[in-house]
Amino acid sequence: MTGEITCLGAKNFVIKAMVASLLGETQTTLSNVPAIGDVDITAELLTSVGVTVERVDSDRLRIDPSTMRTSTVPVPHSGSNRAPILLLSVLLHRFKTVSVPVVGGCKIGARAVDFHLDAIRAFGGVVEENEDGYVARRIKPLKGAQIDLPYPSVGATETCLFLSVLAEGRTVISNAAIEPEIMDLITMLRSMGAIIFTSSGREIRIEGVKSLNGTNMQVLGDRIEAASWASLACASNGDVTVHGIRPDTLGNFLAYYRQIGGGFELMGAESMRFFRQSPLRPAVIETDVYPGFSTDWQQPFAILLTQASGISIIHETVYEKRFGYLKDLSALGAKTQITTHCLGAETCRFRDKNHEHSAIIMGPTPFTAIDEMIIPDLRAGLAYVIAAAIARGVSTLRGVDFLERGYGNIVPRLSSMNLQIERVVES
Ligand code: EPZ
Repeated sequence: MTGEITCLGAKNFVIKAMVASLLGETQTTLSNVPAIGDVDITAELLTSVGVTVERVDSDRLRIDPSTMRTSTVPVPHSGSNRAPILLLSVLLHRFKTVSVPVVGGCKIGARAVDFHLDAIRAFGGVVEENEDGYVARRIKPLKGAQIDLPYPSVGATETCLFLSVLAEGRTVISNAAIEPEIMDLITMLRSMGAIIFTSSGREIRIEGVKSLNGTNMQVLGDRIEAASWASLACASNGDVTVHGIRPDTLGNFLAYYRQIGGGFELMGAESMRFFRQSPLRPAVIETDVYPGFSTDWQQPFAILLTQASGISIIHETVYEKRFGYLKDLSALGAKTQITTHCLGAETCRFRDKNHEHSAIIMGPTPFTAIDEMIIPDLRAGLAYVIAAAIARGVSTLRGVDFLERGYGNIVPRLSSMNLQIERVVES
């Protein structure tokens, strides 16, 4: 693979920014908004409660919450994602009763939302779960709370931020997530008028205000896309320049990338050139919350490790069931084993819980294409694209909708990097 590609706006920020815009009295304009399924699903959720959402042009989305008229969020036709649980906290500031549908998202573990519901209760809300989703009620205005998250959950941190910015009084969130997308969400909320103090650690202090205004916010480059294209460049022994990514948001990905023999060059404030510097070496990787190696990076990276000379280990500590894709790769020639043991520097939450959350990868194993690969989830889907790209022969991937929920315009963008790829329409 040789050529250039531009990262789209970050999926795991843009849908939160869309939800956050409902906290403002006036309209918000988001720029660098990717054309992906997750944005369409979230736009449908917002319009279903009366919010005006319009695509101003290929880059910008304008959201006007002043037309909001109801707080009963129906099941979206266009699919499901993590946004509904975030709407619960945002709508509760405006309505005394809010109901949202069950939450979607890739099947990579339980995807529980208990931290979100407990936070709503801590602010004075009452929450019930039923088979259709969740209903939250409040008798009086929400009050600031002390929240100590059991785990630095990205989504639960976002729920706590949404609850606290318009609550009465002070909130302190301990053990908060600090991913780049969270820090950009804090910047967006501050630009809307929120008073948020971050610290050197995982503590965030918020002083509630009476109201917030809309804002203009640029969506940061998708660091999961960037890591995927970097993995593709190195796996294919190619040379790919990736635009639209802040290098600092790739953090420890760059450390592991160099460790296994990848090379990169800074080409500008938001451009990086990725290539293979030397024969691929094995690695021992532990996924973790930021600034650790992101769980969303391990799938494309695992394909690199199948081509490294030696034995690699990945200890997945964020999700309990995120290695299913490796089993299917054995059909191409991969030699892997997954185990319930904690194969990392230390044991994790999943120890003795019988979850297959560590992987052993033997390499190098040259891949031979197979006729059909069924995509199980979004990030595994991109790993299969990389596997198919380096395999000898032609592969067919099914379940491309998963891919297009998170990677917009993927076929033309990969074709521009000289990958022979086409979308096959079922006859
Ligand atoms: C976000 O999911 C991302 N999704 C995920 O990306 C990402 O992998 C994850 O953060 C971790 O970085 C979006 O932002 C839309 P969590 P989220 O709450 O917020 C447990 C992708 O492919 N937990 O940080 O749902 C949970 O089960 C996706 O783009 C609870 O137990 O993740 C998991 O084990 C995949 N109770 C861990 O915390 C809760 O109430 C991390 O989850 C919430 C979470």
